[in-house]
Amino acid sequence: MRQPSDSPPAPALVALLSGGQWPCARAARILALLLCAGLVSACNDMVEQPKLKPYSSAEAFDQNAEARAIPFGTVARDEPERIAALRTPPKVDAALLDRGRAQYEIYCTPCHGLAGRGDGIIVERGFPPPPSYMEPRLRAAPAEHFVDVITNGWGVMYSYAARVEPRDRWAIAAYIRALQLAGAGEMADAGGEAGR
Ligand code: HEC
Repeated sequence: MRQPSDSPPAPALVALLSGGQWPCARAARILALLLCAGLVSACNDMVEQPKLKPYSSAEAFDQNAEARAIPFGTVARDEPERIAALRTPPKVDAALLDRGRAQYEIYCTPCHGLAGRGDGIIVERGFPPPPSYMEPRLRAAPAEHFVDVITNGWGVMYSYAARVEPRDRWAIAAYIRALQLAGAGEMADAGGEAGR
């Protein structure tokens, strides 16, 4: 069986160290190799250099905090597109409803429940119950109202603006409307079960 020590040295290394007729040429090559190795190990200084880590303290700044407040008036690069998306309701189609359902089930069901009746698992554990989407006031509410609640929060419900993108807010609003229509239906609407 071959032992690891049997393996031949890499050909490039052999050429570098043994090539050349003059001993001084060989010595120069070895020196160059050592210099390269030294340069590579010096790269660790990037890790070691003095720096501020996120949320660390920094005496040079007020409140001894490394984290700086974003200057007043700062605008994120994609802000205009996000504002435009918030103001423009997308066309409601099957793809948008699918997206709305997925996002609703991720972000809203824990409190509002799968069918939107305000009976999510967190409510079962004692969280204040949200109103059912079947309430006449919420049935009559325009899609903009749902988008606004997701964006700015409502009463004790906090904003989901940081988690749900503007277009997805419209998708959720469309899906809530679908839940409302389904919730308002009679058994007869399902077909085949008329009169029950
Ligand atoms: C952590 C629990 C929780 C989650 C998650 C949650 N909500 Fe709510 N929501 C509430 C509560 C509680 C209220 C009632 C707030 C009040 O009236 O003070 C509420 C109220 C509402 C209302 C009714 C506003 C009105 O006019 O009365 C809407 C619409 C709504 N939420 C939509 C959503 C949507 C959409 C999501 C998902 C993006 C969501 N909520 C996620 C707890 C939650």
